[in-house]
Amino acid sequence: MNDGLCMVDSMLEERPGVFRLVLSSAAASEASPGQFLMMEVSSGRFPVTRRPFTVSRTDRSRGTAEIVFQVVGAGTRALASLVPGDPVRTLGPLGRGFRLGARRWLLVGGGLGAAGLPLLAERVPSATVCIGASCADRVLSGGLDAVVATEDGSAGRRGLVTDLLEGTDWDSYDAVAVCGPAAMIRAVVEAVPPERLADVQVSMESRMGCGWGACSGCAVPAAGGGFVKCCIDGPVFGAAELDWMRIDGSLT
Ligand SMILES: Cc1cc2nc3c(=O)[nH]c(=O)nc-3n(C[C@H](O)[C@H](O)[C@H](O)COP(=O)(O)OP(=O)(O)OC[C@H]3O[C@@H](n4cnc5c(N)ncnc54)[C@H](O)[C@@H]3O)c2cc1C
Ligand code: FES
Repeated sequence: MNDGLCMVDSMLEERPGVFRLVLSSAAASEASPGQFLMMEVSSGRFPVTRRPFTVSRTDRSRGTAEIVFQVVGAGTRALASLVPGDPVRTLGPLGRGFRLGARRWLLVGGGLGAAGLPLLAERVPSATVCIGASCADRVLSGGLDAVVATEDGSAGRRGLVTDLLEGTDWDSYDAVAVCGPAAMIRAVVEAVPPERLADVQVSMESRMGCGWGACSGCAVPAAGGGFVKCCIDGPVFGAAELDWMRIDGSLT
């Protein structure tokens, strides 16, 4: 676990409220798909806890890692105020990422959850990408060639990302990766034939205090009872590892 001072390489407001931050950090540039960074968002007294962000892309030769984030509260607002050259304390890369090894992947992302897909798409032999968002402005394709659904029909097909999965030939994929809000992940998991559930990996989000297993703030209901910690047991889980009846959308 690396806890170090990185430097802001660039900060771009890609669209209103959504920022792409490139960090100079040799440690973060070693992140695997699905791993995250815990970032100190303020050098002042508030907010106290670091905030988790998925690594979206890396460039090992330059020693950089990229995150894409949306301003939703005080922490992300403080993060968005950083400028190139600013130092930022960053812990990670953290967590269990995607288990690679499968050949043909179906990647499904919703909203900001799609931020993690570019790194995964880069590391797998073949990927079909489906992305859902509320409207065209919120589609986060990260330069990937993706099939898109928007709720208002302003880009791609009108509807939900699960509508894009209708008629999917599941035998043409060896693995399915799903990132996004818990309710969306659950809907995708329900769309997969039960006999293929073992091939589905989901990237979960929960409120995190520490990011390394110490606070239990990130508990996610586990299949068979009890809880797993999103930060160290995940954030990427096999879909069959979780209890979807107890994951009701309240996580995100
Ligand atoms: C493993 C992981 C990876 C993440 N990756 C990204 C990413 O790549 N890009 C990105 O924009 N965000 C990502 N998030 C969510 C991000 O961490 C939160 O948006 C951020 O912590 C909010 O901090 P804040 O102080 O601005 O908001 P707060 O003031 O803490 O909260 C503002 C609002 O956001 C909600 N919220 C805060 N944290 C979360 C969370 N973890 N899950 C769901 N809702 C939350 C709160 O309920 C509240 O409604 C990730 C979260 C996790 C756990
Ligand atoms: S965030 Fe503290 S245990 Fe997971």
